[in-house]
Amino acid sequence: MTPLIAPSILSADFCHLAQELETVQTADWLHVDVMDGQFVPNLTVGVPVVQSLRKTTAMPLDVHLMIEKPLRYVETFAQAGADYLTFHLEADHPSGIRAAVDLAGRLGVKKGVALRPITKAEAILPYLPDLNMVLVMTVEPGFGGQAFLADQLSTIQAVRALIDKYNPACRLEVDGGIDPSTIGAAFAAGADTFVAGSAVFGQGDRAAAIADLRGGCHG
Ligand code: DX5
Ligand code: ZN
Repeated sequence: MTPLIAPSILSADFCHLAQELETVQTADWLHVDVMDGQFVPNLTVGVPVVQSLRKTTAMPLDVHLMIEKPLRYVETFAQAGADYLTFHLEADHPSGIRAAVDLAGRLGVKKGVALRPITKAEAILPYLPDLNMVLVMTVEPGFGGQAFLADQLSTIQAVRALIDKYNPACRLEVDGGIDPSTIGAAFAAGADTFVAGSAVFGQGDRAAAIADLRGGCHG
């Protein structure tokens, strides 16, 4: 599967988002981190920002929901124009996650589940046949700019093995601490989709930063 680079707008300048988007046109997706101050100890953006991004860009919008009971917001994010909605397995009982995945599917949105570092790869199994993506967190979710957790390479490998066995079309995304020095290990472990916040928006030359990440996939 072709590696995809998804810059996270969490590290962008929110006063100049349209100009910031212009600088990352060579990337593949835009990653939008939604945090509720409950599931994670931070607050970020929500539905209105996704609506505005949708009007401004044709890039696929990869919406990472770090919120409790995400089922409550599937419909509004779908209407706002999200292409991917990713739900944390730790954010609700399995029945709630199941319902969120099913509703996203009925609304024509691509479905992902995300794993905090503490969560085992096998937790994806009940959902895997229906998923378009699994997101393995390579930091504790909540903040940009944290160091890559190399311990998570074993989780990436385990998720890769499950995807290959049960749903080979499913993407395997990693998020947290991805930069040109860490992306190669994540790629070798089986990831194919790479979120990068500070390694893109923290750099002066975003096109060069994106090219460096692509280069790191093979290095
Ligand atoms: C963290 C977010 C990430 C964050 C990554 O909870 O899910 O998407 O923006 O930032 P970097 O790439 O700087 O680690
Ligand atoms: Zn994220």
